Amino acid sequence: MLRRSFRRPYPVAVRGEGVYVWDADGRRYLDFSGSAAVNFIGHGVREIGDAMLEQARQLEFVHTSQFTTPVAEEFAAEMLDFVGEHFRGGAVYFTCGGSEAIETALKLVRQYQVEVGQAKRYQVLSRTQSYHGSTLGALSVSGNRKRREIYLPMVREFAHIGIPYCYRCDFDCSDGCRNCGQQYAAELEHAIEATSGEAAAFIFEPTSGATLGAVTPPPGYLESIAEICRRHGVLLIADEVMTGMGRTGRNFAVEHWQVAPDIIVTAKGLSSGYAPLGAVIASKKVVDAIADGPGAGAFLHGFTYNAHPISVAVGRAVLRRVRSLDLVRAADSEEFKSKGKQLSQELCESPGRLRLFWGLKY
Ligand SMILES: Cc1ncc(COP(=O)(O)O)c(C=O)c1O
Repeated sequence: MLRRSFRRPYPVAVRGEGVYVWDADGRRYLDFSGSAAVNFIGHGVREIGDAMLEQARQLEFVHTSQFTTPVAEEFAAEMLDFVGEHFRGGAVYFTCGGSEAIETALKLVRQYQVEVGQAKRYQVLSRTQSYHGSTLGALSVSGNRKRREIYLPMVREFAHIGIPYCYRCDFDCSDGCRNCGQQYAAELEHAIEATSGEAAAFIFEPTSGATLGAVTPPPGYLESIAEICRRHGVLLIADEVMTGMGRTGRNFAVEHWQVAPDIIVTAKGLSSGYAPLGAVIASKKVVDAIADGPGAGAFLHGFTYNAHPISVAVGRAVLRRVRSLDLVRAADSEEFKSKGKQLSQELCESPGRLRLFWGLKY
């Protein structure tokens, strides 16, 4: 196998249960980061394995150009219910992971603009310190310099605006960051105007992930971003690959700020790592534009393995478990007596424990 690095050894993982992983030498690891913010329900949950087995025995695969499946339709309906009112009448497109879902969203916003008579719009604006995936389209809207550098000649570049990061802020933060949030939001407006009508969408992580740690936006910032996009006919894509499916104590992180994006992209916790799975959740406005527009009434995009029956069976079983165990509430650090609150309190009271956790090995 071509491993991530040729220069370092990797322990050989052979088993997982709950928060632990064991390697082939019998060493136990506390998986405190859930791999890479993936495992939301823990390792080794038997009922998820059972759901996979049942689906594999019943029907392992059909191609989405020829069939749909009960499991994909049911899971899509459950996802729309989970994402909430704003997406009523929308639709869900299932992929094999986050990057594929981002690529899908980028093409969806382009087709939307064409269908509504805005064929000039194709640029997708994004933020400097962001990560949206490793495929070339996703790289073009990502901001991580190191991950992009050598591939830059191969990617189409659009504007990247600054990201509010008040620890190293360019603006005055003395008013609790209200002013700086607005300054950063104004950058988006200027960037949209500079495209001379070619901006199709803006993509952002509600709370930053891989490239900036868990940085939350300043008050009023996301609300202004959403308003600017609406005013300019620019679609808003929330990349919730890392923050979605309950990880921040809300079903999706945008709910913390009552922001309603046109599209939400999610993955990772969606299947909690039990199968490769991502999803693009499109609002009714986007879906209707394609269904009823002058085009062929079809989204011009597809992967062999989108809505793979086994992956969506896993997603459905994971979501049902998340809901039945009330795990989103458990992750909410503001919720009385939740696990999230307990963890946050204990880390605040004795930060030394954090070092122990980061050590991972037990
Ligand atoms: C916010 C965000 N978007 C997209 C991706 C890409 O997802 P994947 O690695 O599943 O392709 C990641 C992965 O870390 C991510 O954190």
